[in-house]
Amino acid sequence: MKIHIFQTKEALHQAVAERIIDTVKQNPSCVLGLSTGSSPIDTYANLIEDHRTKGTDYSKVSTFNLDEYVGLPGSHPQSYRYFMNQYLFHHVNIPLEQTHVPSGIGDLEKECETYEEAIRKRGGIDLQLLGIGTNGHIGFNEPGTPRNSRTHVTRLLKETIAANARFFSGEEEVPTEAVTMGIQTILEAKQIVLLAYGGPKAATIRNAVKGPVTEEVPASVLQTHPDAALYLDEEAAALL
Ligand code: F6R
Repeated sequence: MKIHIFQTKEALHQAVAERIIDTVKQNPSCVLGLSTGSSPIDTYANLIEDHRTKGTDYSKVSTFNLDEYVGLPGSHPQSYRYFMNQYLFHHVNIPLEQTHVPSGIGDLEKECETYEEAIRKRGGIDLQLLGIGTNGHIGFNEPGTPRNSRTHVTRLLKETIAANARFFSGEEEVPTEAVTMGIQTILEAKQIVLLAYGGPKAATIRNAVKGPVTEEVPASVLQTHPDAALYLDEEAAALL
């Protein structure tokens, strides 16, 4: 696992954005795995600014997002489809039909299979962007999720619901289930970039990097990936 530490959040977002832009420039038909939550918002803002000023071309790029809440249609402002449209897709020249976010509505078992199949058909993910939950989750793979899991429906833990309540009007509004790529799906990406900042993530980052590889800390499996990198600010890296 490579570790990159930045003095400011701005420098961190810039570096992650540059890594994504380089990937797109090297392979204009690349497949990006994307994440939501607060962590990548400024990274996406950098991508938008670069597209606006330098014209980086997304017309052949495909994207697959990590996860979606069960029960929220893409038109719901807290759905991850809505988030991605709002913070990235509507501001770069990617055709929306090349963007994939799992559906949290309808036949979910079938959706999980279809999602895996769609990733396979595109030749797999070239670069997967990740955030990390304070309990160590990646995607919505909560502690205890099997290493060999693929896209599946998962029950969110209390701490994840509490952490994400800030985006809703209250904790009772947060969906209790989500569709998420599995750990194995994530590990099959050719490159993985995890970004994290702020003191509350420091202990989690230490456990993921220095602790044993264990299903109890889902991000710790990244230690086994041949091309995984962590992009951290000094606060998130404080316990390394
Ligand atoms: C989001 C996702 C989650 C978040 C994690 C951190 O698509 O998969 O794993 O990356 O919950 O969320 P933030 O960035 O809000 O701290």
